[in-house]
Amino acid sequence: MTRILPPSVPALNRAAELLRTGQVVALPTETVYGLAADATRAEAIAKIYEAKQRPLDNPLIVHVGRGAASVPELIARGYVADPGRSSHQLDSAQQLVGRFWPGPLTVVLPRGPALPPEVSAGMSTVGLRMPFSEVFLELLDRLPFPLAAPSANRANRISPTSATDVLDELGGRIPLILDGGPTTVGLESTVVQVDEDGGIHLLRPGGLALEAIERATGKAVGHPADRSARSLSPGRRAVHYAPGKPLILARSDEDPGPVLARSPVTEPTRLALLLMLERDCPPAWSSALRGAELTIRSLGDPGDGSMAARQLFAELRALDAGPYDAILAELPARTGGMWPAIADRLTRAAARSRDRAQ
Ligand code: TXA
Ligand code: MG
Repeated sequence: MTRILPPSVPALNRAAELLRTGQVVALPTETVYGLAADATRAEAIAKIYEAKQRPLDNPLIVHVGRGAASVPELIARGYVADPGRSSHQLDSAQQLVGRFWPGPLTVVLPRGPALPPEVSAGMSTVGLRMPFSEVFLELLDRLPFPLAAPSANRANRISPTSATDVLDELGGRIPLILDGGPTTVGLESTVVQVDEDGGIHLLRPGGLALEAIERATGKAVGHPADRSARSLSPGRRAVHYAPGKPLILARSDEDPGPVLARSPVTEPTRLALLLMLERDCPPAWSSALRGAELTIRSLGDPGDGSMAARQLFAELRALDAGPYDAILAELPARTGGMWPAIADRLTRAAARSRDRAQ
């Protein structure tokens, strides 16, 4: 049985006890809900992969507490490998950690001896982050080890942003969900790799805007296309965050007719529109959608995408459960802020529908 408890002191103590005995617990971060286990024990890590049915080649993010707020401290604790000398890599990592932790930034560095290979799917690196979530930090305060935590969804499904989402995903498979309410960022952390020369490469756009990283470090962040990001971040398959219904993407100024024609539902009768910037069915869409029964959900975000990001996964989940043949979503034609992360999640959520149609 899976219990949902508000994060009271007794519930936090119960969660800590479960984690000390090698069990898994779901809990909120500021980005999405995570499924946590002792990051230093292979048997505990295995329980995460089992509950999520996650492919074993997809590494986990290790979440550290307030005591591990600097790179020297990460090295002292054995989370990051000790190069035995100063290095551009560690200086660059310290700039990021010092400025953005706690927060939605995961930094990939050489894995230290306190963390078993299982936590990063056998890779020599590890992704680390200090979450900005009081519940998570209070739990870490009670524990002598860091917590491995992927998003608390079954593999290849939408990440959960509330305790009930987690229950939908993992109910019956995990003992406890701490309910901290809906998450505030709404999509996963930005993942960057810090190279030996101190260069920073993006592995996944997310809850921290790239401009913020570039401003703070004075460095241009390299993009995945710059080199083989697939081998760097094996979890980044095209299909991910996928709803069960066909999800079709179009820009608001383009005719969605051709994409609809290539999609699994060529003549949708009941269509849900998920709009990011627009408030109403865009004029460029109306002729292709003539005759369809439309339900319109608008995230109506005129700004940097934070508002849309916060609601995106909850809306996708709700529309996926609704009485529609397909979802047609607006691919936002904006850069900066949360927009690249939103476009990334939408594109990957739509990948399965695209593959099916091909
Ligand atoms: O916001 C988040 O990051 C959430 C919350 C729970 O913290 N966690 C999360 O974890 O999204 P997950 O497992 O769903 O996604 C982790 C991503 C994957 O794309 C994985 O491939 C990448 O981070 N990653 C983790 N460790 C890595 C490593 N050593 N090298 C490259 N990529 C890594
Ligand atoms: Mg995930």
